Amino acid sequence: MRGDTVLVARGLRKAFATSAGELVVLDGLDLELKRGEMAAVVGPSGAGKSTLLYLLAGLDRPTAGEVEYDGERLDTMSADELARHRNQRIGFVWQLANLLPEFTARENVALPLLVRGESRERAGQEAERWLGEVGLAERADHLAGELSGGEQQRAALARALVTGPAVLFADEPTGNLDAASSDRILELLVSLHRTHALTSFWATHNLELAGRCNRVWRLERGRLATAGRLTT
Ligand SMILES: Nc1ncnc2c1ncn2[C@@H]1O[C@H](COP(=O)(O)OP(=O)(O)O)[C@@H](O)[C@H]1O
Ligand SMILES: [Mg+2]
Repeated sequence: MRGDTVLVARGLRKAFATSAGELVVLDGLDLELKRGEMAAVVGPSGAGKSTLLYLLAGLDRPTAGEVEYDGERLDTMSADELARHRNQRIGFVWQLANLLPEFTARENVALPLLVRGESRERAGQEAERWLGEVGLAERADHLAGELSGGEQQRAALARALVTGPAVLFADEPTGNLDAASSDRILELLVSLHRTHALTSFWATHNLELAGRCNRVWRLERGRLATAGRLTT
């Protein structure tokens, strides 16, 4: 079974110090994500979905517990190792695209490859290929700031996938879009999943969106409860 498992979290705890005392957001959470899965965590605003994604992606560290990728633990990594882990294994899409507005779509998508040390030429080619995958081939030379919200989010998706991550994380990726753009992103993710054998983990409070996933958990009182295994 081990070969099927990409990501394991054990006993995850995250507590924040607040003016009202300690706030425990995650409390002994366990999770296992298998290769090829399209999984979602649902729950109301404030349940701790973003906090969970940050810990799983290695963007933040837990108060206690472990996160492991292919047998490698994140908690024993130095800051440099963790940064490398994020660049090589993680793709992340946020509610806002967070592109650099004064750079072109191609430059934005190429950036993670340049960080990794790829040549400018190769990074540009790969960026263009991924812009094509998300339906933005004609927009490669446009400034990111001049793209529509939906186009920016598709460029952000290309940027997240250009490095071939082990896991794609998406935190409310359609939360800021109109219904048509949101549907398009959703269809795109589902289709890229099939064509590129992605493994992804979504945070959403949109049950319709979660319904497209093959595994759904509900975040409740700091832990995950199975919300059922739905068919795709
Ligand atoms: N850095 C922080 N300091 C204090 N409280 C935080 C911090 N980050 C998140 N929280 C709190 O943790 C809870 C969960 O937040 P979050 O993970 O953003 O929930 P969700 O993504 O499900 O809406 C919220 O009550 C939020 O206010
Ligand atoms: Mg959130």
